[in-house]
Amino acid sequence: MPIQALPDTLVNQIAAGEVVERPASVVKELVENALDAGAGRVDIELEEGGVRLIRIRDDGGGIAPEELPLAVSRHATSKIASIDDLEQVATLGFRGEALPSIASVSRFALSSRTAAQAHGARLEIDGGKAAPVQPHPHPVGTTVEVRDLFYNVPARRRFLRAERTELGHVEEWLRSLALARPQVELRISHNGRLSRHYRPVRDGGERVRRVAEALGEDFTSQCLAIDHAAAGLRLHGWVGLPTAARSSADQQYFYVNGRAVRDRTVAHAVRQAYADVLFHGRHPAFVLFLECDPRQVDVNVHPAKHEVRFREQRLVHEFIYRTLHEALASARAGLAGGEPAARPAILAGGAPGAWSAAPRQDALGLPVREAIAGYAALYGTPASEAAPADFAPAAGAAPMPAANEAEAPPLGFALAQLHGVFILAENAQGLVLVDMHAAHERITYERLKAARDGEGVRSQPLLVPLSLAVSEREADAAEQHADTLAGYGFELRRAGPQALSVRSVPTLLADLDPRALVLDVLADLREHGASRKLDEARNELLSTLACHTSVRANRRLTLPEMNALLRDMEATERSGQCNHGRPTWVQLSKAELDRLFLRGR
Ligand SMILES: Nc1ncnc2c1ncn2[C@@H]1O[C@H](COP(=O)(O)OP(=O)(O)O)[C@@H](O)[C@H]1O
Ligand SMILES: [Mg+2]
Repeated sequence: MPIQALPDTLVNQIAAGEVVERPASVVKELVENALDAGAGRVDIELEEGGVRLIRIRDDGGGIAPEELPLAVSRHATSKIASIDDLEQVATLGFRGEALPSIASVSRFALSSRTAAQAHGARLEIDGGKAAPVQPHPHPVGTTVEVRDLFYNVPARRRFLRAERTELGHVEEWLRSLALARPQVELRISHNGRLSRHYRPVRDGGERVRRVAEALGEDFTSQCLAIDHAAAGLRLHGWVGLPTAARSSADQQYFYVNGRAVRDRTVAHAVRQAYADVLFHGRHPAFVLFLECDPRQVDVNVHPAKHEVRFREQRLVHEFIYRTLHEALASARAGLAGGEPAARPAILAGGAPGAWSAAPRQDALGLPVREAIAGYAALYGTPASEAAPADFAPAAGAAPMPAANEAEAPPLGFALAQLHGVFILAENAQGLVLVDMHAAHERITYERLKAARDGEGVRSQPLLVPLSLAVSEREADAAEQHADTLAGYGFELRRAGPQALSVRSVPTLLADLDPRALVLDVLADLREHGASRKLDEARNELLSTLACHTSVRANRRLTLPEMNALLRDMEATERSGQCNHGRPTWVQLSKAELDRLFLRGR
């Protein structure tokens, strides 16, 4: 075949291969155009999952009749005019290929009117072939109709899924747009029925409502509001509490200058920020907006613009990681202590976007439902197990003095210990239940980390050095990593091909059985030391140590010991969850207790 230039329609159909994958991608492009045109309201009508019809009507600036043919020609755009504009593009579109691509694979109509025109106009295109522009009544704004998507591209049509599935994809895109543009009203109807309605947000406080409309109150009742700026970057939005992590990564929304993107740098930074507080295989939920100078990010990397490239990737990574890490760290039990300015607001109670807003404490624990279920489970224990001996009454306990409630510690004062596992405490809000083991483990872990990152883990010599029989590999590892181990407070010497002598152990762990401790550390060393840098596994190492030290279940604590644990929790970062992301305490408010007993009805 001789070389020949491809006809326009074919060129557009090829481009459509990249830009138009399914009805959802058409909706995305058309709604983005409406937003770029300054629309305050967008109506999205779909039939049969969008395959039969997509009609999108907006109240934006509109298109002049003489420009209609241009709008649907390839590489024609009103959004950029030079490479300089491309460097700092602020609109969602700029490639000028969505309308011609969509028009080449559907029966397409574009109707519009600008404020300067007395009447509207309409342009129809069937499979890429345009009819002349006709006068057509239309309010100021634009309507795009896309019928019979892919009717002339059977290969694509075969890839379309069931109506519900296609509708689901459309709704997911719109959810993402609804989160990014809360001021815009979005109405979605399917087969003649209104399926979603995002009402516009007029002031900041209403943003929470919009987030709840998009993601549900499960998200908004268990997240932290974030707003932090530094080094020319700003990160704001909401991150789910670790205890509200999900089994899939289905609620992760990240926007760069208002554009939804998937980015490896971002994903990695977020994962790392949660690394310490999330159970393996769980995924955090978040809605985060990164704002930066448009020149710092290249958006022209992907035809559908799902990806971006940061000029200063490491800076962005560090900024996101630090911001989230600190926000999550301050999600400590009772939220006592700490700099108020660096404390995230609990969404339900605080002003959005303000770190300094006073948090509502009860939002920190589990959602009420789960808390009550937990309580019910506790209370529903068979009578034989709940023998009176199991309940350690607080003999001579000093309940919290009502007079100075304002100064009372957030987690209150211990009343009793239950089943050797839970601490019951009374605070200003009501009853606090603490999982001793989980709480203590977290506290020790955070202390070890702080010590390691500060002056180093203090070490205490054993009165009599302990000799330990180990495998040759373990002995080798201990020898090879002697310096690192010293940094964790262990002094180990080789005493033979398969023997070590333990000279000192970390002071924090001095009460424990040194044999079990060292063997566990060696196991960690063997697992991580060889394969990847020990550095990366350092927190896992400390986590292993912390696990040893924590109060084992069934240990009877005295009231002063319990109170000391509560005070430690209040002072410890991340103490709202144990090292595996489970909650360490729950709050049952007086109102919830009343409800349990149907009081006041
Ligand atoms: N809903 C709309 N309202 C006003 N103008 C629009 C609308 N949709 C498209 N246009 C105009 O048509 C042009 C081409 O749109 P499109 O093919 O999506 O390319 P791009 O968005 O990349 O510019 C846009 O630059 C804009 O001027
Ligand atoms: Mg566009």
